[in-house]
Amino acid sequence: MTNLSLQAVKKAFGPVEVLHGIDLEIAAGEFVVFVGPSGCGKSTMLRLIAGLEEITSGTLEIGGEIANSLPPAERGIAMVFQSYALYPHMTVYDNMAFGLKISGMAKPEIDQRVRRAADMLQLTPYLDRHPKKLSGGQRQRVAIGRAVTRDPKVFLFDEPLSNLDAALRVATRIEIANLKEAMPDATMVYVTHDQVEAMTLADRIVVFNDGHIEQVGTPLELYTQPANLFVARFIGSPAMNIIPFDVLKGGDRPALLIKGVSETVVSLGPDDKICAGGTGYLGIRPEHLRVARDGDMALEGAVLVSERLGELTNIHLDIGQDDPLIIKVPGMIAPRRGEKMKVTFDRENIHLFEAEGLAV
Ligand SMILES: Nc1ncnc2c1ncn2[C@@H]1O[C@H](COP(=O)(O)OP(=O)(O)OP(=O)(O)O)[C@@H](O)[C@H]1O
Ligand SMILES: [Mg+2]
Repeated sequence: MTNLSLQAVKKAFGPVEVLHGIDLEIAAGEFVVFVGPSGCGKSTMLRLIAGLEEITSGTLEIGGEIANSLPPAERGIAMVFQSYALYPHMTVYDNMAFGLKISGMAKPEIDQRVRRAADMLQLTPYLDRHPKKLSGGQRQRVAIGRAVTRDPKVFLFDEPLSNLDAALRVATRIEIANLKEAMPDATMVYVTHDQVEAMTLADRIVVFNDGHIEQVGTPLELYTQPANLFVARFIGSPAMNIIPFDVLKGGDRPALLIKGVSETVVSLGPDDKICAGGTGYLGIRPEHLRVARDGDMALEGAVLVSERLGELTNIHLDIGQDDPLIIKVPGMIAPRRGEKMKVTFDRENIHLFEAEGLAV
């Protein structure tokens, strides 16, 4: 069982610093997912852990030992990339066995490891095939199998499923979930742009932004208690609606005023905190909005577009703000462009943020 500890880790390429002092503890056996916009430093972070890039300053500990200058081969880490890079002239079996053969491992031990990995990843029927006769998902499983045979203490995955089509992604995602169950002692760090992968695979998610960490938490913590506007917008699909408001002073209960097509007053409970300043942002997820009934507190607008996805429809509503309000409704109701709608929400589902973006 191996834990990872990053303390004030910085990485610069020449004069350009791309990681600005990362502090992160990853427990032994934990499955941690890195998410964040393109270019925010996720792959660089993995490459530092693997030893493929040198840390500029700070400390990396692997299993309690300082590993800043430990050669990659001595770190007990296997990395799986987006491109699976299998040897085309070798069978699946030989692709998985190759690294072990080179390291001089005895044949029976190699055979046992390859068969165990193949079994774990449902690859046993394909051991004699060549990669070109496999689907993309099967090839990626071979690449994962190759990592498994090395019996690493830590697995690093850099967007391993992003080259696969939708159905294969789902199937291979399940294989990865199974792999995690089969290897509970292995520590896994997994980079993805896919919300479903992040939410379903992670014990904890780390949200990166521009070379620093915005928040670390379980998937549900990030969904229910985003620490700031960045995380609020980043976790969830479609993204949380963010609506500016003015604090209404003077009444006996705190209230928010949303100006738009209509002026909407959102009253809060006596104990609810509002913002320190006179303005802030109200966050409400598309799935927490619904069509209002007469008498409900409501936001009013005109339909811009309805996206029918089969089991649900995303309606984009112009409520007189910069961004349209997105409402996720079950089924295939599809109001026409221009149709007027009133939507409402329950107070317990709102998120409040200070004008500077921190959660209240
Ligand atoms: N070898 C390098 N030399 C110079 N700059 C680099 C190098 N590798 C990465 N960078 C820069 O470091 C930043 C972080 O890159 P990184 O590949 O870690 O991003 P990422 O979060 O993995 O993005 P993506 O989601 O697109 O894969 C980017 O601005 C990138 O241009
Ligand atoms: Mg990357």
